[in-house]
Amino acid sequence: MKRELPIEEANRLINHGPVVLVTSLYKDKTNIIPVAWITPVSISPMLIAVSIHRDSFSLDLIEKGEEYVVNIPTIELLDKVNFCGTHSGQRIDKFKETNFTPLKAHSVRPPLIAECIGHIECKVYDKQKFGDHKLFIGAVVSASVDEDKYDKYLKAFAKEAKTFHHLGGDYYITSGNLETTTLSVAG
Ligand SMILES: Cc1cc2nc3c(=O)[nH]c(=O)nc-3n(C[C@H](O)[C@H](O)[C@H](O)COP(=O)(O)O)c2cc1C
Repeated sequence: MKRELPIEEANRLINHGPVVLVTSLYKDKTNIIPVAWITPVSISPMLIAVSIHRDSFSLDLIEKGEEYVVNIPTIELLDKVNFCGTHSGQRIDKFKETNFTPLKAHSVRPPLIAECIGHIECKVYDKQKFGDHKLFIGAVVSASVDEDKYDKYLKAFAKEAKTFHHLGGDYYITSGNLETTTLSVAG
């Protein structure tokens, strides 16, 4: 069951640097792109950046649609993520090919991916070309999370909420092996 997340906590879904699935839409075209290069950049307003290669179809859709959704997949979805990262939406419908379920977003037009454990809905706030990528800075307008997998922080250490992280090529690590620790401040 998904619940809304306060916008000021949206960064907690990606602080640990997981691979995400970015959905975009323009006119009748919807697309999904795996993105490893993602980071929070501001708290107030809450801004999140994604770096998108100039040759990708997603760049075109994000540029024209001016919105995107950052979806957080778990390790069970790795095969589908890999498919989305090795095919271009220019020629295929990735929702159809992967059987991912599109869900209506709260505040933007691109759909959420129902199978993902968290979603951050963004409107393009700024963009800048750097080398062969374009950096899109998105203002978060809505966020939601699977309520079983979040308790003030994403439970990415739990077996059923293992996110994954790209080392390059076909190599990944999962969040499951990380040990959790809590810092306490004296006085
Ligand atoms: C794990 C993984 C992470 C990736 N990270 C990025 C990224 O951060 N930025 C990017 O532009 N492409 C990234 N890619 C490559 C795109 O996903 C790939 O080029 C994709 O086919 C583009 O799809 P599109 O043309 O439908 O937009 C990644 C691929 C994989 C498998």
